This record gives sequence, C-alpha cells and structure tokens, in this order.
Amino acid sequence: MKQQIVTKINGQQHVLQVSPRKTLLAMLREQLQLTGTKEGCGTGDCGACTVLLDGQPVNSCLVLGVEIDGREVITIEGLDNDGELHPVQEALVERGGMQCGFCTPGIALNGAALLQDNPDPDEAQIRRALAGNLCRCTGYVKIVEAIQEAARKWREKSATRTPAPEPADG
Ligand code: FES
Ligand code: FES
Repeated sequence: MKQQIVTKINGQQHVLQVSPRKTLLAMLREQLQLTGTKEGCGTGDCGACTVLLDGQPVNSCLVLGVEIDGREVITIEGLDNDGELHPVQEALVERGGMQCGFCTPGIALNGAALLQDNPDPDEAQIRRALAGNLCRCTGYVKIVEAIQEAARKWREKSATRTPAPEPADG
C-alpha cells in the first residue's frame, strides 16, 4: 500500500503517494521525472545518484522515498540560483571537469555541500569529499581543480554578500 508523504524538493512542496519499497532515486527519476540524478551501481558504490537531504549528501539509491517525509531534497536540477549556475557547476564546465557527464551531478552536489561546510578546502579535503564519486572518464585532476576554482568563486560571492562589520564605538 502506498504511503503519503509531504516533502520539499528543489524548493517546491510536494504531496506524494509513495510505495514503501521505492528508493528515493526511483521516486525522483520515475515519479517526478528528475532524471539529472543518475543510477550507476544502485548499491551505494558510485555516487552518481547523490542528492542533498537536509543539506547533506546522500546516495539516493540507499534511501527510501518514504524517508524524505517532512524533509528537504536538492537535486542537480535545483542547485542553480534562479538560473545562475552554482560556482561548482560553472567551474566544472570552465575547467573541463567532465566528459560524458554521468558522474557530474553527484560531483557537483558533493562539491557544493563541501563548500557550504568549508569554503576553503585543501586538495586532500576535496579528494576526501569526493571519495565516493567514481568517474570513469575524466580522471580526477580536472575535477579537483574545478572544485578549487569553485571555492575561490564561492568565497568571492560570500564576501560580496556579507556586509562590512559596523565600526566599534570609540
Ligand atoms: S547509483 Fe547510488 S551509489 Fe551508485
Ligand atoms: S565524466 Fe564520465 S563518468 Fe565522469
């Protein structure tokens, strides 16, 4: 029997009827046609199905659709800001950090989550954050360079968003 859930996906509220055995990955792709989330292994090994669940990266092939009741999901379709690419997306394009693109949504979401937590990661921290994302084409050098470039852009954007502190009295 299907179960009703209420969830926010890419900023939009959804009331959905979900089979208790359906994965979040299948729900996104088949029920909501959000096919940017890719199915690689289906067993939690490749990271192609990564989405953000309450801001944290998860392998959506290992999460049941019913588990997102009352929670918020961001997929690659929701990573931009009103049509403006996220710095990680921009940098992956500019730095040639993709070839076939199959792994790219997962890498972009994991990279975005990393910068949210740590806007100035070193190479080892970037490699650790992407350790669960397998890429068969590009090799990882350009992907790591892209995340480093994205971090620079991210810090610049954050600096322009943060108002200057008020001068202290006296
Ligand atoms: S499809 Fe989910 S980790 Fe590979
Ligand atoms: S670009 Fe093809 S798998 Fe990564």
